[in-house]
Amino acid sequence: MADAAAAPVGVFDSGVGGLSVLAEIARLLPDESLLYVADCGNIPYGEKSPEFIRQRCRSVAEFFQEQGVKAVVLACNTATVAAAADLRERFAQWPLVGMEPAVKPAAAATRSGVVGVLATTGTLQSAKFAALLDRFASDVRVVTQPCPGLVELIEAGDLNSPVLQRLLQGYVEPLLAAGCDTIILGCTHYPFLRPLLSRMVPASVAIIDTGAAVARQLQRLLAERNLLASGPARPTQFWTSADPDHLRNILPLLWKKSDAVQSFTR
Ligand code: DGL
Repeated sequence: MADAAAAPVGVFDSGVGGLSVLAEIARLLPDESLLYVADCGNIPYGEKSPEFIRQRCRSVAEFFQEQGVKAVVLACNTATVAAAADLRERFAQWPLVGMEPAVKPAAAATRSGVVGVLATTGTLQSAKFAALLDRFASDVRVVTQPCPGLVELIEAGDLNSPVLQRLLQGYVEPLLAAGCDTIILGCTHYPFLRPLLSRMVPASVAIIDTGAAVARQLQRLLAERNLLASGPARPTQFWTSADPDHLRNILPLLWKKSDAVQSFTR
């Protein structure tokens, strides 16, 4: 099994948001070699049709197959609701870890009984999200807030401009007005706004995301299959469907400097 365990893990997002998940994976599993595909040329997925997102996910999965990955992390809530089931069916050979807004832990943690969810329109409108609420949030009130425009600004490397601050403030105010004491970051781009967001909300409001939980789930699935790498990890490689220079320039802000950025042309 040594060779299979040394294979890389493929991580995918519509853009740079999945880097917030990649960071958690690299922290928990430093021996794993990681490949990251950012479909930056098609951002934002939050406003795209589920069928379009499924097609994109299939193309990336075929690419990961050629690269010989041993597991895939769909580091995108929007892609998970649209395509995780489809990918699990077509690429049943891999453990596949998807993302979902942290409704279960938020419902357990809230004291006010009101939980806010910041996510994309696509995630909030999905049947999968409705099922998540039915399952875990029957005893709490959940206030949802789609956040169009945030992803585009983050993709441009903006984590703190006056424009971004105004936009985020407008999305957070209704949650606070409704009495939320727990805010779920239901899109992998939003953890990059955590420093800004925590200055906008009272200290008593908890802000939660699922990056670390996803890394732990990946660890569990790899361990079950005897696929944990023993290292040393190879340098992380990146692909983007937009200009590689853009990702190269933004990586030091969101991850760390890397020249290993190539074009993803499918
Ligand atoms: N990062 C993605 C998510 O977790 C969405 C970003 C987008 O709209 O493309 O939902």
